Amino acid sequence: MLELDKIHCGDNCDLLGQLPRECIDLVVTSPPYDDLRTYGGHSWDFYGVAWQLKRVLKPGGVIVWVVADATKDGSETGTSMEQALHFKRLGLNLHDTMIYQKLNYLPQNAATRYDQCYEFVFVFSAGTPKTGNMLRDRKNAKAGQTLLTGGRKNADGVLHDKRVLTCAEAGMRSNVWPIAVGGEASDHPAPMPESLARDVVATWSNAGDLICDPFSGSGTTAKAAKELGRRFLGFEINPEYCAIAERRIAQQVLELEAV
Ligand SMILES: C[S@@+](CC[C@H](N)C(=O)[O-])C[C@H]1O[C@@H](n2cnc3c(N)ncnc32)[C@H](O)[C@@H]1O
Repeated sequence: MLELDKIHCGDNCDLLGQLPRECIDLVVTSPPYDDLRTYGGHSWDFYGVAWQLKRVLKPGGVIVWVVADATKDGSETGTSMEQALHFKRLGLNLHDTMIYQKLNYLPQNAATRYDQCYEFVFVFSAGTPKTGNMLRDRKNAKAGQTLLTGGRKNADGVLHDKRVLTCAEAGMRSNVWPIAVGGEASDHPAPMPESLARDVVATWSNAGDLICDPFSGSGTTAKAAKELGRRFLGFEINPEYCAIAERRIAQQVLELEAV
């Protein structure tokens, strides 16, 4: 077994192959999107990575796959959707197709297409997810107000089964997450928003669980895992990004010690 709580520098397919089957509780990752960025010119094997992820995931484990598509010759590639369907063919559930909405996207002002402002957050699971700590932080517009609910009008025209409730402060989020992007303390060209990594780790894992990011980049998932008391394994092929991630995680330990 590879050493835990560490970023391992190398090809993710090779590194995943060194893990025993069914050892990972949660995968949080974002692969390169088509050929939008090269990250130093390294290649990766989608089919190999997908197969390995299915192999190492525990029953009830979850994979959070953040991805978007390039537009080529006027058409979106649809790569992300092909990937989602392939995970299904491997036997995983497509548990949810979530959207991460970029609040501060760059306006394109194209003549015939609206601005692109989101990425897919595919949530795959090996059977029913064993963990779901659903976040209940959506502010209710009517928080604290008294509401009259229920009610069924019978033939007599009178409302039956009325209930008086006080509206809760907050409710469960929807599966569209608005996030202000940018501002991450990272030299990586495409870091995942910290809040996205933290919130998916909080939702689909518990303290002590093992989280893996096979496209670790600057280590955002590892940072979130550490912050929330989870174990982690990060895999990254580019040594420069491995160094960024290691610095970031070490820095976080210093910050925690200073508290
Ligand atoms: C979209 S970025 C991930 C960014 C990361 N989520 C973060 O927060 O910094 C994709 C990463 O995959 C890495 N990568 C590409 N091919 C790889 C391979 N075969 N094995 C491991 N990592 C690879 C790239 O170097 C890049 O850092």
